[in-house]
Amino acid sequence: MDNFKYYNPTKVLFGADTHLLVGEEVKKYADKILLHFGGGSIKSSGLYQQVTDSLKAAGVAYVELGGVQPNPRLSLVYEGIKLCKQENIRFILAVGGGSVIDSAKAIAMGVEFSGDVWDLYSGDKETDRALPVATILTIPAAGSECSSGSVISNESTGEKLAYGGDFIRPVFSILNPELCYTLPKYQMACGVSDMIAHAMERYFTNTPDVDYTDRILEASIRSIIHTAPLLLKNMQNYDAWCNIMWAGSMVHNGILGAGREEDWGSHDIEHQLSAVYDIAHGAGLSIIFPAWMRYVYGEHVNRFVQFAMRVWDVDLSFESPEAIILEGIRRMEAFFSSLGLPVRLSQLDIDETNFGMMAKRVTARGPVGRLEQLGEQDVLAIYRLAL
Ligand code: NZQ
Ligand code: ZN
Repeated sequence: MDNFKYYNPTKVLFGADTHLLVGEEVKKYADKILLHFGGGSIKSSGLYQQVTDSLKAAGVAYVELGGVQPNPRLSLVYEGIKLCKQENIRFILAVGGGSVIDSAKAIAMGVEFSGDVWDLYSGDKETDRALPVATILTIPAAGSECSSGSVISNESTGEKLAYGGDFIRPVFSILNPELCYTLPKYQMACGVSDMIAHAMERYFTNTPDVDYTDRILEASIRSIIHTAPLLLKNMQNYDAWCNIMWAGSMVHNGILGAGREEDWGSHDIEHQLSAVYDIAHGAGLSIIFPAWMRYVYGEHVNRFVQFAMRVWDVDLSFESPEAIILEGIRRMEAFFSSLGLPVRLSQLDIDETNFGMMAKRVTARGPVGRLEQLGEQDVLAIYRLAL
């Protein structure tokens, strides 16, 4: 196992009705805040009313900025930075999913940064300062509620890039599984695909002797696979949402990657897909991850056999290790399909047209992935395998 430093200061308030505590929690940090949210689901569900009532009751003033789109846009981040500066706001409450939370994190960094916040994402500049951010999570998926990352789409360059550090982990996150009841099944499925991907990005490692985190990652994926179909049957299953919601945070709060090299190639390859075609991140991953696995397993047979056997219950009766691996990938794709997710680009009517440009962009700052370092031609081959 590698040496590591693990630091996660996010306080989690988990369970039914916990969102009603938001006013008193925020009041510990600020008297005036930016209330940041998405495209309207929090208004139709009644959550917006409950949150603003709780803030008012606690004596917290708020300035609103809604309209965050999935694959959150840089232009709204700029607007938020300007608004916070104009209104002298020093605290941001994000109510929504990963897109809202990531947009809030970007604004929080931008307010404290003297230059253009995009230069942080493009890798040209660095910072370690941000306003404090808190969250009320409404979709278990991206794990941003406890993570150190933020992913933003720059609509003028067509890029979607990540930036972060421990300094942008939320100060607190409220996770009430009841808030997920209004989610469409497709969004639930996209979230499930994303959290499985977050476990797999950590699982496929070159670091030897990481049995402890291997087995927690396997157990996490198995639990998600077990629970997601219960939600397909009943989207108001509180206990199922509890397990999915906590799994989503646990697989991406960093603890399961401690002491092991992580991969993240599939995420880099997917981000370019959602940047160009504006598809849901989880739907991109259910296509790209199996293709990536097919492309790289050859040099890592033992790890992929272990994954197929321990996670997907493939037994040893097949004639070769390769057959075990491919059966594991097949079962994974069958699982994604059973949730209504795509597993091939052609299912989304995406053809080869942009592959060359996308592969170039993915590798513009050098090879991606750690299990195998992938250059432009590798990424191109993975897009083709995903067709
Ligand atoms: O905008 P509203 O109206 O709220 O609708 C949202 C949105 O359309 C809807 N939704 C959310 N909660 C709902 C709801 N609808 C009904 N009821 C509810 N309770 O769901 C849609 C998707 O929301 P979004 O926030 O985009 O989803 P998700 O949480 O999957 O976030 C995806 C973004 O996170 C990034 C992705 O790249 C993508 O941009 N990621 C962020 C990471 C991080 N910061 O650590 C890591 C991830 O790997 C990921 O890259
Ligand atoms: Zn992800």
